[in-house]
Amino acid sequence: MSKFIIQGQTKLSGEITVKGAKNSALKIIPASILSSETISLKNLPHIEDIKKSLELLADLGAVIKEEDEQISISCRNLNTTDLNPNLANKFRASIMFVGPLLARFKQVSFPHPGGCVIGAGGRPIDLFIEGFQAFGADIKVEDGLYKLKAKKIKACQHFFPLISVTATETFIMTAILAEGTTTLYNCAMEPEIKALTDYLNKCGAKIRGAGTPTITITGVNQISAGEFTVIPDRIETGSFAIMAAITKSKLIINNCIPEHILALLTILKKIGINYQINNNSLTILPNKNFRAHDIKTHEYPGFPTDLQSPYTVLMTQANGKSLIHETIYNRRLLFVDMLSQMGADIVMCDPHRVVIHGPTPLIGKQLTSPDLRAGIAMIIAAMVAQGKTEIDNIYQIDRGYEKIDQRLSAIGVNIQRNS
Ligand code: EPU
Repeated sequence: MSKFIIQGQTKLSGEITVKGAKNSALKIIPASILSSETISLKNLPHIEDIKKSLELLADLGAVIKEEDEQISISCRNLNTTDLNPNLANKFRASIMFVGPLLARFKQVSFPHPGGCVIGAGGRPIDLFIEGFQAFGADIKVEDGLYKLKAKKIKACQHFFPLISVTATETFIMTAILAEGTTTLYNCAMEPEIKALTDYLNKCGAKIRGAGTPTITITGVNQISAGEFTVIPDRIETGSFAIMAAITKSKLIINNCIPEHILALLTILKKIGINYQINNNSLTILPNKNFRAHDIKTHEYPGFPTDLQSPYTVLMTQANGKSLIHETIYNRRLLFVDMLSQMGADIVMCDPHRVVIHGPTPLIGKQLTSPDLRAGIAMIIAAMVAQGKTEIDNIYQIDRGYEKIDQRLSAIGVNIQRNS
């Protein structure tokens, strides 16, 4: 099994460029199903989750061409509306294909989507099922597959009982070709949603209110397609900022939108980590010491759950006591056990809350990456640890961070990939 081997106590220097956002790219690929015209995608990250998404689309019969860092996709003639269970059950974002297939072809079958295990009981899809029913779909479960059919997709008024990014995006896409005007209440407001709707509106969709809790979509008969440039990954941006802060280094982070991580930047400033913002670049300045500060994860624009694990590692090196409160996922704090093994002083109060007393020296260990974000957090811990850390199950890290070893080596991290 491939692993990363990291020699700790490194300083970073130089510049790093942020790649396209995984959680934007994973939505625009299935969105291509909505139109029979060809879409061109730029700035797609080269990561495992995107490969799987393109593979699933190709399996439906889409024609995908790659040229000069640009991918074009034609979904003019798809062969099937059945998502291949062996491909779709491997990643959570396969659920993003269901809305567009239902919207355009009025039918779809799919398995329970896979992915990393950070929610309780796997990751539920009840919000999706309820929503598809609200649009008039008839749902059966046969042979372990969900089978959805609708005579027509009817606009609806739908309130999300829980704020969900992928459910918000799914029902925007389901409503685009529906008859009438749909209103979605209690929507997620992540920047990736706005990026998706800006593109769809350019193609003729009628979506208003993205980036606010209430979104209305007036159905149209068809939409065209065009060019979409994936927005910079805000979680990569934040992860790199935390790497610079914890190693007390100066680091220039290019091709990012600092405004998308204001929740993190505001705390960094408060705890004594200075930075400069220059258009699409963020420079983290070297610090001597930083203070502890509590966080509570929250939907955008609050503190992102996807930055909770890197921030938790940062707090092991902060002066004082911090409370980390993870409100979105039930299993996302379990990785702190590995930080404790490395020497961190962490008390788990319950699955959603840990208290950290810092700073404590960390010592390199043999670790396993349980999920994508905990994986990058292990790398961050290894950067400040004494001695060597080995991290296995790095497939989980490659799912979301493109060539992370090469990019981190270029800014001074002593990291090697052993295949
Ligand atoms: N939930 C349900 N039922 C559902 C769907 C979600 O109970 O049918 C619950 C989840 O278990 C969770 C909460 O709702 O407790 C929020 O989950 P959400 O649906 O927002 O998550 P998501 O849309 O599946 C996206 C990102 C996640 C990110 C969350 C932040 C994508 C592909 N994934 O997930 O990204 O953590 O929003 O809310 O956009 C990651 O990149 O590491 C990652 C997990």
